[in-house]
Amino acid sequence: TTPLDLAVIGGDGIGPEVTAEAVKVLRAATEAVGDAEITTTDYSLGAAHWLATGETLTDETLDRLRGHDAILFGAVGAAPNDTRIPSGLIERDLLLKLRFTLDHGVNLRPSRLYPGVVSPLSAPGDIDFVVVREGTEGPYVGNGGAIRTGTPQEIATEVSVNTAFGVERVVRHAFALAAGRPRQHVTLVHKHNVLVHAGHLWRRTVEAVAAEYPQVSHDYMHVDAATIFLTTDPARFDVIVTDNLFGDILTDLAAAVTGGIGLAASGNVNIAGSAPSMFEPVHGSAPDIAGQQKADPTAAILSSALLLEQAGRAEAARRVNEAVWSDLAERATAGGQSVSRSTAQVGDDIAGRL
Ligand code: NAD
Ligand code: IPM
Ligand code: MN
Repeated sequence: TTPLDLAVIGGDGIGPEVTAEAVKVLRAATEAVGDAEITTTDYSLGAAHWLATGETLTDETLDRLRGHDAILFGAVGAAPNDTRIPSGLIERDLLLKLRFTLDHGVNLRPSRLYPGVVSPLSAPGDIDFVVVREGTEGPYVGNGGAIRTGTPQEIATEVSVNTAFGVERVVRHAFALAAGRPRQHVTLVHKHNVLVHAGHLWRRTVEAVAAEYPQVSHDYMHVDAATIFLTTDPARFDVIVTDNLFGDILTDLAAAVTGGIGLAASGNVNIAGSAPSMFEPVHGSAPDIAGQQKADPTAAILSSALLLEQAGRAEAARRVNEAVWSDLAERATAGGQSVSRSTAQVGDDIAGRL
C-alpha cells in the first residue's frame, strides 16, 4: 500500500468524540496489517467554528480538502433550540456543500443486524441490506424559495431535481453492488404514484440498467409501503436504491431496527474518483449527550472500515469489521446495549481487538 492522507472533520457535539475513536482504530488496524501509514489533518468546521469565525466552508478550505485521499467526517449542526445559528445553515453550507462539490453521487448506507445486537423487533430475522442513496440531487439541491413570507398567502417551494445522469449513476452502482452479493436483488423505492415525473425517470432507468444485469432481480416499492416492510420484514431487502430524501429517512429507520443509530455507518462516494469520498456515521451531533463521553463511536468506526475498503485496503477493513463484531457480541454477553463504557473505552476495546 501507499500512505493514506486523510482529512478529519470532527465537527460539533459528539462528532469529534466519535471521530477520535475512528482514527484510533484506523491507526491500530493499519499497524496490525502492516499497511503504509495513515496521516491525518484536522479541520475545524461546523456550528462552533461558524460562531467563532463566521465561516462555514471557504473556497480555500475546500481546495485543501480536495487534496486529501479521503475525508473522515463526524457530525455537524447545533441543537434544534439553539437560536444563535440559523436552521440549516451548517447543514447546507458545509455538509451538503461538501457532498455536492465533491460529487458524492452515491451514498452507501449498509444495515446489518450484527450477532448479539438487540433489535426492537420481536422477530427481526437476518437483516443485511444496503441502502444506496442518491447523494447530490432530489429536494436537497436548494431549488426553491418563498414568497409573501409571513402572510396568509405565503407560498414555499422545495423542488426535487432528478437528472438522468445522477439517477443512472446511482442505479448502476446499486446493480453492480447487488451483482456481487449472494441474493442479487435490487428494490427501487420511490413514490411514482404521486411524484410521477421523477418517479418515471427512476423507473425507466432501473428497467434499462436491469436489462444489463440479467442475473440481478429487481422489484419496486412505494416509500410508504417500504416503511411497513422495513419494520415487519426487514430481512427481505438486499439492495435498496432510492433518492436523497427517501434514503435519508429510510436509513434512520433502518438504523433503529438494527440496534440503533449509534451503529449505522455511511460512505459518500465519488465513484469517478475525481474528488475525495467522505465517510461519516448516519447520526448527527447529538447535542443531548455531547461532551459526556456517552456516544457510541461504533458507527464512526464502521464508517472508517468503509473508508478503508474504498481506499483498497480490504484486509484492514475486514479486521476493523471483525473487531467491531466481536465487541458487539461481547456487549451482548455482558448484559446488552445498556452496558456503559465511555466513548473512548469502546474505541480502546475495539482497537485492542486488532
Ligand atoms: P442526532 O442523530 O444527532 O440524534 C438523535 C438521537 O440519537 C439523540 O437522542 C442522540 O443522543 C442519539 N444519538 C445519535 N448518535 C448517537 C451515538 N453515536 N450514540 C448514542 N446515541 C446517539 O439527530 P438530531 O438530534 O436530529 O440532530 C442533531 C443535530 O445534528 C442537528 O443540528 C442536525 O441537523 C445534525 N445532523 C447532522 C448530521 C451529520 O452531520 N451528518 C446528521 C444528522 C443530523
Ligand atoms: C444525514 C443527515 C443529513 C442529511 C443532514 C444533516 C443534512 O440527516 O446524513 O443523514 O439529511 O443527509
Ligand atoms: Mn439523516
